[in-house]
Amino acid sequence: MKLWRICLFACVFGTGRGEDFPSLITANASIAVVLDHQFLGERYQAVLDELKDYIKELARVQLKHGGVVVHYYSWTSISLKKGFLAVFSIASCVDTWDLFSRTQAEELLLFALTEVDCPRLPTREAITATYAEAGEELPQLLLDLRTSNAFKWKAAVILHDDTLSRDMVSRVVQSLTSQIDDDSANPVSVTVFKMKHEINEYLRRKEMYRVLSKLPVKFIGENFIAIVTTDVMTTMADTARELLMSHTSAQWLYVISDTNVHNGNLSGLINTLHEGENVAYIYNVTDDHQDCVNGLMCYSREMMSAFISALEAATQEELRVAAQVSDEEWEAIRPDKLQRKNALLKHMQQYIQVNSRCGNCSTWHVLAAETWGATYKDINEATIVEPSHNHTNNTASPGVIEQIELLNVGFWRPIDAVSFSDALFPHVEHGFRGKELPIVTYHNPPWTILKRNESGAVISHTGLVFDIIHQLAKSKNFT
Ligand SMILES: *[C@@H]1O[C@H](CO)[C@@H](O)[C@H](O)[C@H]1NC(C)=O
Ligand SMILES: *[C@@H]1O[C@H](CO)[C@@H](O)[C@H](O)[C@H]1NC(C)=O
Ligand SMILES: *[C@@H]1O[C@H](CO)[C@@H](O)[C@H](O)[C@H]1NC(C)=O
Ligand SMILES: *[C@@H]1O[C@H](CO)[C@@H](O)[C@H](O)[C@H]1NC(C)=O
Ligand SMILES: *[C@@H]1O[C@H](CO)[C@@H](O)[C@H](O)[C@H]1NC(C)=O
Ligand SMILES: *[C@@H]1O[C@H](CO)[C@@H](O)[C@H](O)[C@H]1NC(C)=O
Ligand SMILES: *[C@@H]1O[C@H](CO)[C@@H](O)[C@H](O)[C@H]1NC(C)=O
Repeated sequence: MKLWRICLFACVFGTGRGEDFPSLITANASIAVVLDHQFLGERYQAVLDELKDYIKELARVQLKHGGVVVHYYSWTSISLKKGFLAVFSIASCVDTWDLFSRTQAEELLLFALTEVDCPRLPTREAITATYAEAGEELPQLLLDLRTSNAFKWKAAVILHDDTLSRDMVSRVVQSLTSQIDDDSANPVSVTVFKMKHEINEYLRRKEMYRVLSKLPVKFIGENFIAIVTTDVMTTMADTARELLMSHTSAQWLYVISDTNVHNGNLSGLINTLHEGENVAYIYNVTDDHQDCVNGLMCYSREMMSAFISALEAATQEELRVAAQVSDEEWEAIRPDKLQRKNALLKHMQQYIQVNSRCGNCSTWHVLAAETWGATYKDINEATIVEPSHNHTNNTASPGVIEQIELLNVGFWRPIDAVSFSDALFPHVEHGFRGKELPIVTYHNPPWTILKRNESGAVISHTGLVFDIIHQLAKSKNFT
């Protein structure tokens, strides 16, 4: 009854908005499914048939209120002014971005499946899944890091050895240097250095020294991406320290592909870190389990499931709200096009985050080293000793961190790219992360003025030096 009255209201008094954008209660949602014939080639017909059956069944089982009208297209240059709620596309990278600019103009939700090495559409506006064969994920991974602004670099130095094929190197370079329509991710200028992969530890160290000592860091910058195996990583980190290349204003990102879910405990392999470094690790925790699913149809089905789930949720929500208010009120408050698009997008992203199984086995983990201020962690008044003025003893390297702390800052998988829970380089973003640092000083007015009470305890500290310290603490985030 209510439904009918609402329809009557909308039909009779239909405002402009009501006609070209009906509520989900009054009309079945309609979506466009674009399967680009040229992109799919000979798979086109099979994909089309399978998807048609799948959507029909999905709508029958999942949609409790109303249905969904699906329009199929075999090319991306379609007219979008048909009151679609959303567009699903399988197309090349270029066509996907082109379609995106048109869905944006119409405030339509686009969820797209596209080829590998394609910059994803902005996650606040659309959903992109890229489909790659296992073992080919490296360029997409770096591209996703770049587009998610994990590093804000103008230039980077790529270090790799011959375990990385030439084709892969050029794809990796391409993923960092390419122009992207979305101007949030500027191209990174890249310098590439290759070294020989030496099995022998001594030769490896020598080779590493040869390459690293000659890097013209003044010109190429100090942001390093090392695409290496675990054994090379350890040697490289040591050599970089020896050459004083791993310091507060340098950033080192190790990309390690020869790990997997079974030997994937990288933290066990990182045995030295120094105060003030910026080091992050991305490593392969891929599982080659039999239950792993992947492939074009898998992603297509999963994205459609996510959409249907979001549609059902949106319809239920509209019914729930409409039942509580008068028809006139409902017309005034019901979600507009953009609000509904955003609600659908959010629901789909959450659904994928929780339920996605396609390509879920190829996962990479991201670790960041917590190094700034780590050597001062356990220092208090009791442990402070007289400083030695003898600088000739260099055998104990200063700033070695005894208790290494690695932060789990995120993970990557093909369907929803990198999910970060913290910054890739936490100290670059957050300085000392609010750490408490010990300060040694003495009464020396006007620079430092210490006030003591009768029993000799320091009760206040002021003076010019402390003004500077407080300013530093603010900008570098320590206490
Ligand atoms: C909506 O779809 C359902 C199920 O497909 C169908 O029974 C119903 O008639 C449709 N309603 C409208 C208004 O088209
Ligand atoms: C990641 O690990 C899996 C399983 O060991 C392997 O098949 C795949 O090639 C690795 N990825 C890369 C980019 O090396
Ligand atoms: C990884 O190795 C470290 C040190 O060897 C150990 O403390 C940690 O528990 C291990 N983690 C897992 C998940 O095995
Ligand atoms: C996907 O993989 C992660 C671990 O890599 C796991 O925790 C999660 O449960 C998996 N999701 C599904 C739906 O299987
Ligand atoms: C500094 O160390 C050197 C060698 O260890 C030693 O010969 C010298 O006496 C030391 N100087 C002081 C002032 O302790
Ligand atoms: C240098 O320092 C180390 C550790 O503090 C000490 O064991 C060693 O004897 C010192 N060497 C010299 C030459 O003083
Ligand atoms: C001096 O300050 C310390 C620390 O705040 C406090 O424990 C002590 O009681 C104070 N002594 C006097 C005499 O006020």
